[in-house]
Amino acid sequence: MVIAHFCAALRAAVGDLMASHAEADIRTMLEDPVALGVRIVPSIEAHLASAGATTLADVIAYAWSAPAVHLRAVFDPTQLPSTPLAFAPVPQCQGTALAMVSAVAAFAALGSATISYGSENGGDLFVNLVVIPGTGDIPKKSTKSMSGHTDGVSFPIRGQNDPEDERIAPSPDFVGLCCLRNPDGVPTNVMSLEAVLKGMPDNLVDELRKPQYWITSQRTFESGMHEILGDELVRDDASLLFRVKDTNWIRYSHSNTGPADADSAAQEAIQQFQAGCVQCVQGIELYPGDIVLVNNRIALHGRANVGSEYGGTTRWLLRTYGLDTSSVKPEQRYPDSKFKLFP
Ligand SMILES: [Fe+2]
Repeated sequence: MVIAHFCAALRAAVGDLMASHAEADIRTMLEDPVALGVRIVPSIEAHLASAGATTLADVIAYAWSAPAVHLRAVFDPTQLPSTPLAFAPVPQCQGTALAMVSAVAAFAALGSATISYGSENGGDLFVNLVVIPGTGDIPKKSTKSMSGHTDGVSFPIRGQNDPEDERIAPSPDFVGLCCLRNPDGVPTNVMSLEAVLKGMPDNLVDELRKPQYWITSQRTFESGMHEILGDELVRDDASLLFRVKDTNWIRYSHSNTGPADADSAAQEAIQQFQAGCVQCVQGIELYPGDIVLVNNRIALHGRANVGSEYGGTTRWLLRTYGLDTSSVKPEQRYPDSKFKLFP
């Protein structure tokens, strides 16, 4: 019920904003997501209060206890052009503007700023998740399923520093996906970290906490890392599992993390963890107009096979990230952007 109330309040608050501003003003507002949040969150709260007992604190508590917050039918995906063929740019139309404002507003309500990283897709705040035609790794990957991972895996979790470069900003707290089209009902998969760990013996869970794993950047960050850092971001003594207050946080990707010693308990732990992810998959079917906010600390995410059709009316999601930026340092930002983090 909490999330149904939140959806209604979000939809109403975004509707009020859109009704009182021209589309060009809305685009300008999207360049400063924090200011947009400051403007719209009081309106979300007022709509919640007039509807009954749900508060933003209830919504935030839910978002930090569940693998994902599925916001159903929160925007109207109208006037869409054909599904684009690349990560960027996001085509300008009423439907994409509504989706982006709704996602920024939802993150702001959770206390998260909507952010990007300069090293991924040129630092665009929103990117298209679509099938990309052509050959090469990225087009090939765009058609395939993805097993459980967290995004920005080579960046530290919030509250920690990269051991070699303090300019590296934390990975996101949330991954936001706005569904514009999903004609085949391809599920977005989430896995509860708690459920995965419950299926593992304690000694192997403890292995994941030890600084004995290598981590590399995910493919979408590779070229940006070379441009900005002059090299790949590789760490070889990382922990994957962290105790944060009374809960566990994870950073993990099957293809971008591994044990420093391949024949060890560290390796056994990662094998069991991977198997646990497969066991604990919950599919979320996104319909046009839905937004899902996947927790990138207490859950992993992936997707089913997408297929090779592209363009036209094929699957099209917009992706962005949410992060509590209260501890982000000036050197972890770019001076020319209100939302882009380093690298
Ligand atoms: Fe991802």
